[in-house]
Amino acid sequence: MLIKHFLFVFLSGFTLILLVHAQDQSGFISLDCGLPQNSSYTEHITGINYISDATFIDTGVSMSISPAYKLNSLEEQYLYVRSFPQGIRNCYTISLTSGTRYLIRGSFLYANYDAKSKPPAFDLHLDANKWGSVTIIDDSTFIYSEIIHVPNLDHIDFCLVNTGHGTPFISALELRPLKSDTYVTQSESLSTFVRLDFGTLTNETYRYKDDVFDRMWFPPTPMIGWTSISTSLTVDATSHIDFQPPSVVMSSASTAINTSAPMTFNWVPPDNTTQYYVYMHFAEIKELQANQSRIFNISLNGKPWGGPIIPTYLQSTTVYSPSALSGGKYEFALYKIEQSTLPPLINAIEVYTVVQLLQSQTDQKDGDVTVDVPSNSQTLHLESKNRKFTPSDIEMITNNCKTLLGEGAFGKVYHGYVDGNPVAVKIISETAVEGYQQFQSEVGPLIRVHHKNLTTLVGYCNERTKLSLIYEYMANGDVHSHISEKNSNILSWEGRIRIALDSAQGLAYLHDDCNPPIIHRDVKPSNILVNENFQAKIADFGLSRVIPTDGGGYVNTIVAGTLGYLDPEYFRTNKLTTKSDVFSFGVVLLNLITGQPARVKSPENPHISQFVRFMVAKGDIRSIVDQRLSNGDFDVNSAWNAVEISMACVSENPPDRPTMSEVVIGLKECLATEFSHRREGSVTESNDSSQIFTMNVTTGARPLAR
Ligand SMILES: *[C@@H]1O[C@H](CO)[C@@H](O)[C@H](O)[C@H]1NC(C)=O
Ligand SMILES: *[C@@H]1O[C@H](CO)[C@@H](O)[C@H](O)[C@H]1NC(C)=O
Ligand SMILES: *[C@@H]1O[C@H](CO)[C@@H](O)[C@H](O)[C@H]1NC(C)=O
Ligand SMILES: *[C@@H]1O[C@H](CO)[C@@H](O)[C@H](O)[C@H]1NC(C)=O
Ligand SMILES: *[C@@H]1O[C@H](CO)[C@@H](O)[C@H](O)[C@H]1NC(C)=O
Ligand SMILES: *[C@@H]1O[C@H](CO)[C@@H](O)[C@H](O)[C@H]1NC(C)=O
Ligand SMILES: *[C@@H]1O[C@H](CO)[C@@H](O)[C@H](O)[C@H]1NC(C)=O
Ligand SMILES: *[C@@H]1O[C@H](CO)[C@@H](O)[C@H](O)[C@H]1NC(C)=O
Ligand SMILES: *[C@@H]1O[C@H](CO)[C@@H](O)[C@H](O)[C@H]1NC(C)=O
Repeated sequence: MLIKHFLFVFLSGFTLILLVHAQDQSGFISLDCGLPQNSSYTEHITGINYISDATFIDTGVSMSISPAYKLNSLEEQYLYVRSFPQGIRNCYTISLTSGTRYLIRGSFLYANYDAKSKPPAFDLHLDANKWGSVTIIDDSTFIYSEIIHVPNLDHIDFCLVNTGHGTPFISALELRPLKSDTYVTQSESLSTFVRLDFGTLTNETYRYKDDVFDRMWFPPTPMIGWTSISTSLTVDATSHIDFQPPSVVMSSASTAINTSAPMTFNWVPPDNTTQYYVYMHFAEIKELQANQSRIFNISLNGKPWGGPIIPTYLQSTTVYSPSALSGGKYEFALYKIEQSTLPPLINAIEVYTVVQLLQSQTDQKDGDVTVDVPSNSQTLHLESKNRKFTPSDIEMITNNCKTLLGEGAFGKVYHGYVDGNPVAVKIISETAVEGYQQFQSEVGPLIRVHHKNLTTLVGYCNERTKLSLIYEYMANGDVHSHISEKNSNILSWEGRIRIALDSAQGLAYLHDDCNPPIIHRDVKPSNILVNENFQAKIADFGLSRVIPTDGGGYVNTIVAGTLGYLDPEYFRTNKLTTKSDVFSFGVVLLNLITGQPARVKSPENPHISQFVRFMVAKGDIRSIVDQRLSNGDFDVNSAWNAVEISMACVSENPPDRPTMSEVVIGLKECLATEFSHRREGSVTESNDSSQIFTMNVTTGARPLAR
């Protein structure tokens, strides 16, 4: 009974739409990226009609893949790529039908097109939001990144973003309209995690024309205790459900070798906050005798999730939950009920991760994110793509300053709402002498800087002496309060490294991707904010200054910053460089590792870096890591990694300090080390008949067929 509330089961019998061969490509947008302008062709393997991408983008260069990879078995859309050596963010603008659900897919085959044998990594953005990262594994592996998204405008910007790990490129960009009542979510978009064709006998990947929506179905890795069954008959020959899983995919299935054993599978999410939508497709493919039956239930983490399921002969049924799954643990079991004579089966599965995209409200179409501030930064002028508010708007937004969130050096911060979204409003106090300057230096850079790891400026008020800044609201406050001894919720090791990584990415963006670079000048735990998902963002550009590019890489300034976090070299020389932020970040990382403030209660080693250096010399990692974390809570190698990174950051001599981009790479390794530790742990724990689903998180990586 309960199950009905959790599941929608689409039975093929319900929708008696005749399967006319609706296999035309109407609504498809198929761009061969890098193909010479005005060219088009019908691909010889798939029959898909591709056109050149040239009219959808003004930037990038067309390149041809290395001849060594030009094989007959290669689909033609991979022969060219568009590569983006210039600019940080390059976007395709594509017109489509707002309100329609689209499958949007970027395909990437490196094939050494630049003859550098250096596969890059980069990010993908949709409009103003990051939704994916692409890491090219090697020359010959295809990478696909897919998102199912309902645009609220009549166009989208599909952007490739250079993250400092090589030149972004793309082989093909494809958009496919889907049925509106499929893949329905609360409002989120879905990024493909896996789409698997169980029981396949061919090892082939199926797409259009087998799949009318051109979804790609991949062969899974073999599972112990499972076997394949198949039929040569057509599934859904007379009617189909709106999901329309392809017949070729549904005509094979996996089933349990041991009739009474459950079929179990699971996956380990990258973190506990990732949410999933799961779609399982079933069809009976054996003609059952009168005394045979196949009836099974599905459980998730030992609790009922769906059933009883009685697959219909040669007709598809799709089972899914109407809301996202969360909780960090995904152990599914398909088990037969007692009366069933046959074991469960499963023909196909799709798993998507939830992506929260902020829909563009005031069409924040902001093609590039470079900061083009005039090099003499005090003359910053406010140019508003962001919204400008009046003092009375500010009163409404904050409900007359009803809820105080905090108080900083230059004024108080209040809670409020803009268009129903929570915001934090910083009201610069009228007595703050530097108020106006502060305002200019803060708004100037922020107005053009957009990065996931920097708090977003929603708007501002600049009338008479009423100066206010409106930021997105960060539900979990600042990092200072999370590592404080007074906080009884102990931040996990992974949580700490994630916060460090997020903020390092924000700083790396300011240093490396902004032109001219922006130095924050006041990196400290109270300037790093945490949202409801415990993701961190850098806040408070109050003291930031833009470095003039022709000034030898540093600016002379009046020393500002916070004691304990202030670079001693900057203090001594007044010369501010990006390495000053690196020093401060190193101290923040030490705070996160140790749970201790910057100035510790030790007369011999008054600064945390001295204390840690002393303990490192003794080889004593246990007494460095926050005492509130016990041995099993973190991986020792990960802890050593983190300590090494932080100690390099606080090197006395600025050239000895790493760049923030190097710190980002180091912290990613640190996190990976922590994961491998956790993953080993989870394999030994779940030591039943189940087996870890070895699914690559990189969506749909497939080696090139030779
Ligand atoms: C593409 O077609 C347009 C319009 O027909 C034409 O103006 C343009 O020169 C063509 N470009 C190339 C490279 O052939
Ligand atoms: C499919 O792939 C598996 C693993 O790579 C291999 O063992 C098997 O022989 C392949 N089957 C076919 C039909 O190619
Ligand atoms: C089949 O599975 C059942 C239930 O898991 C188990 O009790 C039984 O030992 C298994 N039989 C064989 C032959 O492995
Ligand atoms: C993730 O969730 C599992 C159980 O659901 C819990 O044991 C673990 O501590 C959580 N990890 C983090 C980092 O919160
Ligand atoms: C089902 O019936 C067939 C004959 O129609 C018989 O051979 C088979 O043993 C029966 N199986 C069971 C489980 O009763
Ligand atoms: C299967 O699910 C049905 C419906 O929820 C439930 O009544 C039944 O007890 C379940 N059977 C088993 C063996 O769990
Ligand atoms: C910070 O950036 C990283 C990588 O771009 C991303 O994984 C993380 O979610 C971002 N944090 C927030 C709060 O968006
Ligand atoms: C648990 O897994 C380990 C490693 O895969 C294996 O050696 C061991 O026999 C398993 N134990 C049980 C009880 O299945
Ligand atoms: C996953 O990716 C790795 C490379 O990162 C590759 O070696 C492995 O074969 C892939 N596994 C699957 C199941 O595709």
